[in-house]
Amino acid sequence: MNILVTGGTGYIGSHTCVELLNSGHSVIIADNLSNSRIEVISRIKQITGRQIFFYQVDVTDEEAVNSIFSSNRIDGVIHFAGYKSVTESVIKPLEYYFNNIVSTMVLIKLCLNYKVNKFVFSSSATVYGENKVPFVEDMELLPPKNPYGHTKVINEKILTDVAKANPDFSVAILRYFNPIGAHESGLIGESPIGIPNNLMPYITQVAKGKLDKLKIYGNDYPTIDGTGVRDYIHVVDLAKGHVAALEKLKKGVNIYNLGTGKGTSVLQLVHAFEEANHIKIPYEFVARRPGDIAECYADVSRAKRELGWSAERDIIQMCKDAWRFEKNNS
Ligand code: NAD
Ligand code: UFG
Repeated sequence: MNILVTGGTGYIGSHTCVELLNSGHSVIIADNLSNSRIEVISRIKQITGRQIFFYQVDVTDEEAVNSIFSSNRIDGVIHFAGYKSVTESVIKPLEYYFNNIVSTMVLIKLCLNYKVNKFVFSSSATVYGENKVPFVEDMELLPPKNPYGHTKVINEKILTDVAKANPDFSVAILRYFNPIGAHESGLIGESPIGIPNNLMPYITQVAKGKLDKLKIYGNDYPTIDGTGVRDYIHVVDLAKGHVAALEKLKKGVNIYNLGTGKGTSVLQLVHAFEEANHIKIPYEFVARRPGDIAECYADVSRAKRELGWSAERDIIQMCKDAWRFEKNNS
């Protein structure tokens, strides 16, 4: 298949392009480089030995995206492009609603116009709010606590309504848990701009000596050791989940959790990183971060049953690969 990948030079998009190309598909990337670098294109080519097409466009710009649809045969779209910082979304809500929702509407409209019937969307475990773990796809969604989370819920609703009204339009809504790690080549990975918000990039920058010590947000949660528990998934496993979702896509709306099904606490992740890479990570406990929940992990049985997909890489592998990328690239 010829797949249009929006946000394809970003963290998850770049790894997904590699897995698509390795599975024999062709890739057209549309990205405005607002949170990624052009070098990623040559890195993807280097890893796969395959040619790819790149358009530097803003996917909220209908005319620009239309010209991609009119000049390429597209069989499916994977829509990663969007803003993703929870904290920033509280400060810049309009930018978040505009970018994350208009981009989806433009793409759906063009898919319907050009009869492109496969659409895969990047959603997030954040849509479950404070439901009881493990999170199951059929649970009633609880209102998210920030504009970023709302954009995911709204996009899920738009896609669901459009699919209902257009029986040929097939949608996969993929709810990611916490992607970490990097491609084993060390050529692509996560490189946040400024001080990282997320745990693993913060840990790797402490390991590198760029940051002093890790601040652990809260040690009084009702969890195994008092620190927050998350379902960390290797980004390459997550990328392979997209290929499976695309290849096995059924008519209608298909929602899948992409996680490992296992919870790991902040302290457990810190210790795994120390064990995997033989580097001590200094840390201190500070107050809870507003908006954080105690535990978040997936029920992954639907993806296994329907897609034949499950995550294979363990926490040690995630820590080794994240560190290799940090060492090589900054
Ligand atoms: P990322 O920032 O690395 O990648 C997003 C890419 O989209 C970037 O390359 C950016 O330049 C591009 N982009 C943003 N707005 C654009 C626009 N209007 N037009 C064209 N390109 C645009 O983020 P990521 O971690 O790879 O996340 C990809 C998707 O997955 C996002 O939708 C995000 O919300 C979702 N998600 C991520 C996580 C996570 O922890 N990383 C978790 C759940 C869901
Ligand atoms: N944490 C720290 N110190 C840090 C950073 C994080 O202790 O410097 C803790 C958090 O409190 C939390 C855990 O590490 O308990 C994971 O935090 P992250 O910021 O890495 O990830 P979140 O689970 O908060 O959120 C991420 C993405 C969201 C996405 C969600 C899906 O940032 O966009 O996963 O589960 F919606």
